[in-house]
Amino acid sequence: MVPLQTLYARTHFRNLQIHKLYRSFHSTKHLYKEPITVSTVYDPVTGCMVTKSNEEPDKQRGERLLNSDYADAFKDDRSYGSVMKGFGGGKKKSKSKSVWVCSECGYSDGQWWGYCRECKSVNTMKELVDVVDSGGGKTNGFQMSEKLVQSWLPKRAGEAVPLRLTDVNRGVNHSDWRFPLSGLFGDEVSRVLGGGLVPGSLVLVGGDPGVGKSTLMLQIAAIIAEGKEIGKPAPVLYVSGEESVEQIGNRADRMEISTDELFLYSSTDIEDILVKAQALSPRALIIDSIQTVHLAGVTGSAGGIYQVKECTAALLRFAKKTDVPVFLIGHVTKSGDIAGPRVLEHIVDAVLYMEGEQYSSHRLLRAFKNRFGSTDELGVFEMSPCGLKAVKNPSEIFLSEERSDSEFLAGLATAVIMDGSRTFVIEIQALCATGSSLSRQVNGVQAGRADMIIAVLMKQAGLKLQSNAIFLNVVSGASLTETAGDLAVAAAICSSFLEFPIPSNMAFIGEVGLGGELRMVPKMEKRVGTLAKLGYKKCVVPEPAAKLLRGLDFGEFELLGCQTLKDVINSVFITS
Ligand code: TYD
Ligand code: MG
Repeated sequence: MVPLQTLYARTHFRNLQIHKLYRSFHSTKHLYKEPITVSTVYDPVTGCMVTKSNEEPDKQRGERLLNSDYADAFKDDRSYGSVMKGFGGGKKKSKSKSVWVCSECGYSDGQWWGYCRECKSVNTMKELVDVVDSGGGKTNGFQMSEKLVQSWLPKRAGEAVPLRLTDVNRGVNHSDWRFPLSGLFGDEVSRVLGGGLVPGSLVLVGGDPGVGKSTLMLQIAAIIAEGKEIGKPAPVLYVSGEESVEQIGNRADRMEISTDELFLYSSTDIEDILVKAQALSPRALIIDSIQTVHLAGVTGSAGGIYQVKECTAALLRFAKKTDVPVFLIGHVTKSGDIAGPRVLEHIVDAVLYMEGEQYSSHRLLRAFKNRFGSTDELGVFEMSPCGLKAVKNPSEIFLSEERSDSEFLAGLATAVIMDGSRTFVIEIQALCATGSSLSRQVNGVQAGRADMIIAVLMKQAGLKLQSNAIFLNVVSGASLTETAGDLAVAAAICSSFLEFPIPSNMAFIGEVGLGGELRMVPKMEKRVGTLAKLGYKKCVVPEPAAKLLRGLDFGEFELLGCQTLKDVINSVFITS
């Protein structure tokens, strides 16, 4: 048996690891005295053959990493070799093990359950076979980056002990803690991040392939590198595992990015990336994408659940230890499948999603999780031939250009909806046609909600819609998810049915109740303020809202308070 001192000399593990190794050494000695017996029996509960051994259960689960490290340290010791067989030691061999991962929340379990024990979803546990390399080497992203970063940074004094809050905050000016991003584009990104870039944060930027994630990150990288707000450029490292540096260079040229401090690197090895980052000491690190990078020692291909998790853990450690913010790009499917965002959501500080309709140039950047800000924020961009541009008046993006014609067009009404903290003005079209089949088609409005509004118009407002086919459409592909648009839907139907065009400078805000009454909706002041700013002259609102807002100054803007749908028809659609 090799004395413990020799073990210390052979391996360069840190104290904690040596301590664990020492424990492992003793447990192994114990096992040497009592050889392991293994038997295979039929388990009636699972209906499978199960292999059982006389090992203690916690040792069976064991810390495979430590055991394999231990096996490595003693690989030339014969007496140990036979004992290590119980741990999969001796001859280096790869083992495969199954884990079940929940596709909803990312929870993983060593055995299959009919439901997820974390989020209670049924039928979401999917089996993943992972090959565990028992031949030693690094299998843990956390340890890998810890080792790398520790050799780089001097250990901060007092880091290893709990600190008083007052000591932590002493001398820190929280107002300039975040890194500001300059320009209209930078403001829009800052808004989503919660007011600027937080040092040492790990941000995941997700979205469908081709939505514009790489474009967005290249532009953000350039802004951070230029550092116009603080007047000091600094290096930013953009690492791509998907494109060559020439391809990224070509894209940057198209977007007129020419900062000296933007460094491009094409690699998929996370260890290599962190070594290069260490040499550069960047202001920010961008990884495009997390599905393409891998960590040596963790088996399974890049993009697999283990690789994605371990690489993210390595980058998290890197970010926290060095205060360098790290952005990860992640391709996701809308269902958020395995190795998608759900698995990483727990690890990262912020999850941003980039959304965009296939045939629209508008892109929305939304915070889904943010440890440093609100998740209500929304960034609105437009994809142009030279990159993403911030949209100056996001409230107007869903308005059609032919709006001026609506003076003569019956069946068009304007609504104001909220998305997070942002307001959007949208147009709703209705067409009531007699004589055709009595079908009902809705686009952008929930079918059930539309049915309810039509029923209320018939029963409570006395509109004879029974013999009409009704078509509803939200212009520009937007969708009406809020009840605040009910009144505009009702107004559009009335306008088409009565063939009475609604003036283009008039809007409708309010929920419609089953009794035909109009109900208040949240953030009335903000919605009305947006309309006034965009040059609208009149808005029909529920009576209580009109009373509430009467004291406020919206210039020449007029609020028309109504209690029921009948009131709305009488005051808007009947000319005296
Ligand atoms: P990209 O950033 O490569 O998407 P992702 O990284 O999310 O897969 O952008 C892809 C799309 O963006 C591509 O279809 C072309 C379009 N695009 C422009 O319209 N203008 C531009 O300046 C750039 C760079 C891309
Ligand atoms: Mg890309």
